Amino acid sequence: MRAGAERDMLQGRVAFVTGAGAGIGRAGALALARAGAFVIVSDLDPDRAIRVADEITELGGRAKGLGLDASDDLALIAAIDAAAVRHGRLDILHSHAGIQIPGALEQVTADDMDLSWRLNVRAHFVAARAAMAHMRPRGRGSIIITASNSGVQYDREMIAYATTKHAVIAMARQIAADYGRFGVRCNALCPGFVDTSFNAGFERQMGGRTALEGYVAGQIPMGRWALAEEIADSIVYLASDRSSFMTGHALVIDGGESL
Ligand SMILES: NC(=O)c1ccc[n+]([C@@H]2O[C@H](COP(=O)([O-])OP(=O)(O)OC[C@H]3O[C@@H](n4cnc5c(N)ncnc54)[C@H](O)[C@@H]3O)[C@@H](O)[C@H]2O)c1
Repeated sequence: MRAGAERDMLQGRVAFVTGAGAGIGRAGALALARAGAFVIVSDLDPDRAIRVADEITELGGRAKGLGLDASDDLALIAAIDAAAVRHGRLDILHSHAGIQIPGALEQVTADDMDLSWRLNVRAHFVAARAAMAHMRPRGRGSIIITASNSGVQYDREMIAYATTKHAVIAMARQIAADYGRFGVRCNALCPGFVDTSFNAGFERQMGGRTALEGYVAGQIPMGRWALAEEIADSIVYLASDRSSFMTGHALVIDGGESL
C-alpha cells in the first residue's frame, strides 16, 4: 500500500464495489484500498471476490470479499445495508457490474434487451437507492456508476449495450440533480476499450486477438487500449474529495475514441 497523502485520501471511508473480482472493478477496489478505504469487494464469483480481498489485505489494506449477483435485487440491497450497518457508514458505492450482448435490432431479442437492462440499468438503480438510504442522512457520499463511452456515442451493432449505457448516464445525472443538495454526488464512469476479459465476446466477433488489436490500433486516436489501472485512478478521483464539486458528470476515458 502507498504511503502519505494518497493513502490518507480515503482514510476511514467505506466503499462497496460490485463486479470487483476482475478487470476494472478489481483494479478500482485495489486503488480505493490503497487510498485508505475499507473495501467491500463483491462479485458474482465468490472465489474471485475473496481473492481480491485477500490481495488487498496482503498489501496492507482492509477489505472483505463476498459473492453477490448484482442483478439479484434483494441480495444487492441486503449486502449494501449489511456493509453500512457493520461499519456505521457508507461513503462510496462503485456500481460496476455490466453485460454486453452484441447485435443490431434484428439480432437482439426482447429478452436480450431485458437482460441488458437488468444489469446495466436496474442493478445500478437498486444499488444507488440502497446506498442513498445510508448516505443522505450523513450528508455525504459518492456514487460512481460504470457506464461506457458507448453511453456517449453509437457503436455498430450494439443496440442493447449502447441503449442501456446511454440510459444509465441519464440516471446518474438525474440522481446528481436530485441529491446534490444533500451532499451526495453521483457520476458516471465511461471507459473506452480496456484490456480485460469483458472484450472476449467482441474479440470472437472480430476473429481473434490480433484482429482486435488491429482494430483498437486503428480506431483509437491514442492507438492502444487502456490498462484497467488507468481507469482505477479515475475511480479514486471520483470517490474522493479531489472531485468534491463534480456531480452529474460522464467521465470519458477512452484514448479519444469517441471524438
Ligand atoms: N473492459 C472494457 O473495455 C469496458 C469498457 C467500457 C465499459 N466497461 C464496463 O465495465 C464493466 C465490466 O468490465 P470489466 O472490464 O471490469 O469486466 P471483467 O470481465 O474484467 O470483470 C467483470 C467482473 O464482473 C463480474 N460479474 C459479471 N456479472 C456479474 C453480476 N451479475 N453480478 C456481479 N458481478 C458480476 C464477473 O464475475 C467479473 O469478475 C461493465 O459494466 C462494462 O460495461 C468495460
